[in-house]
Amino acid sequence: MLIPPNPDTPLVKIENASKCFGDTIVLDRINFSAKKGDFVSLVGPSGCGKSTFLKLIAGLHLASEGSVTIDGLDPKNAREEMAFIFQDANLLPWRRVLSNVELSSQLRGVSKRKRQETAREVLELVGLSHALRHFPWQLSGGMKMRVSIARALTLSPKLLLLDEPFGALDEMTRDKLNEDLLRIKARDGWTAFFVTHSAAEAVFLSNQIIVLSAKPGRIAEVINVKLPAFRDADLRETSEYLRQVANVSRSIRKAH
Ligand SMILES: Nc1ncnc2c1ncn2[C@@H]1O[C@H](COP(=O)(O)OP(=O)(O)OP(=O)(O)O)[C@@H](O)[C@H]1O
Ligand SMILES: [Mg+2]
Repeated sequence: MLIPPNPDTPLVKIENASKCFGDTIVLDRINFSAKKGDFVSLVGPSGCGKSTFLKLIAGLHLASEGSVTIDGLDPKNAREEMAFIFQDANLLPWRRVLSNVELSSQLRGVSKRKRQETAREVLELVGLSHALRHFPWQLSGGMKMRVSIARALTLSPKLLLLDEPFGALDEMTRDKLNEDLLRIKARDGWTAFFVTHSAAEAVFLSNQIIVLSAKPGRIAEVINVKLPAFRDADLRETSEYLRQVANVSRSIRKAH
């Protein structure tokens, strides 16, 4: 008999997970679950283990103790469900925008016609239809990140892992990318873990924010963001948004 999937089953389940490098405990007994469709931000002092946390979820690091599962699977067996986006867009300089975005599906053996169709579609989604034939050196920092996001979306991931993707961008560009990311999420419904140093960005994007403290990295607080699901630029001017940003900033300061 087929058992229908339970919508309440967590997509990401982290149980008592610790990560040590040699004698150093970097993450200490982390417990956290994310449901499908959650947008979870990770904030905390530099070196507290945020990137390590994402790599545990991605299966790029093994937990030294405890367990991490994605939809009930070992992360290593769930790689096809995930896409990783880093601060550096990591574009191949000799490939044009369209061909950079095709790369992930090309590596999976998707036909040229199909992968070009998907690449064009996701590039339209991130607002880059006019730049398909540009080389990376012809793009601004924000455009490069859009290409990087498009490349991740070609594989229709269930889980997006983003490590300070907009950290190097100016505030206006970052705000616009945040708005676009939420618009795409509303269409595609993926789940996200997002590392940032910005309380404002975390509140704008997330429904949950994990505040990590350092040495060893522990969950100091999980903050539920109580803002409407639909969020646009106007939200940033509301007193409720500003109040929650101040609250997260306070929690990060306490975690230092
Ligand atoms: N592969 C590794 N081998 C040994 N130590 C590591 C390794 N990766 C990370 N570390 C150590 O683990 C700690 C946490 O690193 P991590 O990169 O996860 O921090 P972070 O919170 O992402 O920092 P930042 O905000 O600066 O990006 C650091 O002390 C780092 O030196
Ligand atoms: Mg990091």
